[in-house]
Amino acid sequence: MSTRRKDILKELELIPLWCSRKKTQCSHFSEVPSPPIDVIKDRRSQILHSDWVHLKTSVTRCTACSLSKARTRTVFGVGDENADWLCVGEAPGGEEDAKGEPFVGPAGKLLDNMLEAINLKRGKNIYITNIVKCRPPDNRNPDPSEAQQCEPYLTRQIELVKPKLIIALGRIAAQNLLNTSSTIASLRGTLHEYLGIPLVVTYHPAYLLRIQPDKAKVWEDLCFARDAMQTMS
Ligand code: URA
Ligand code: SF4
Repeated sequence: MSTRRKDILKELELIPLWCSRKKTQCSHFSEVPSPPIDVIKDRRSQILHSDWVHLKTSVTRCTACSLSKARTRTVFGVGDENADWLCVGEAPGGEEDAKGEPFVGPAGKLLDNMLEAINLKRGKNIYITNIVKCRPPDNRNPDPSEAQQCEPYLTRQIELVKPKLIIALGRIAAQNLLNTSSTIASLRGTLHEYLGIPLVVTYHPAYLLRIQPDKAKVWEDLCFARDAMQTMS
């Protein structure tokens, strides 16, 4: 094994675990195999026990999926870390990747306006983040395995914020959070749950930039969310 590979395995704490197993399991291994299940569980467990500082550092250093290769910066999340409202988008785009902040491009401006309509303001009373924290190449959708690798970060963010209500923006956020393949159209207008927290689904602002007439539906969804919140407080 090369020194470089040894260093990487050490950094990932896969040594000496892998060296001893490799001999007994397969003598033809030439590639670094997938981490064993207990290492995967350890990573998840570590993330789920992190405080804000450690969580942010883990994301900044994360190489758990291939989205780490092309990113400029990780995009962790922004806003009030004790907010009652939490918004989940899909993935950073070009401007977010450059700035390290979610929803700062054209879709973000529309999102800010949408939120302002129900008295929510970035940095003040809502927390905003995404399903994945690194930009997918060419702004493609994150694939299920990338979303799965990134899921413990989002779960921990939600556990730390403890919002009263979650808004899932668009198909990718809704389908990943609700573990479903249903369409946005069929998920709207119902109070769902994620980790026991009420969750409302609406269209993604980038979609609204293309299909303007559906803005009325988003307004309906935001009023539905606001009413749900009012009945909780
Ligand atoms: N679209 C998203 O889903 N998230 C962002 O942060 C930016 C655009
Ligand atoms: Fe890690 Fe998430 Fe970035 Fe993948 S997308 S490298 S899991 S932070």
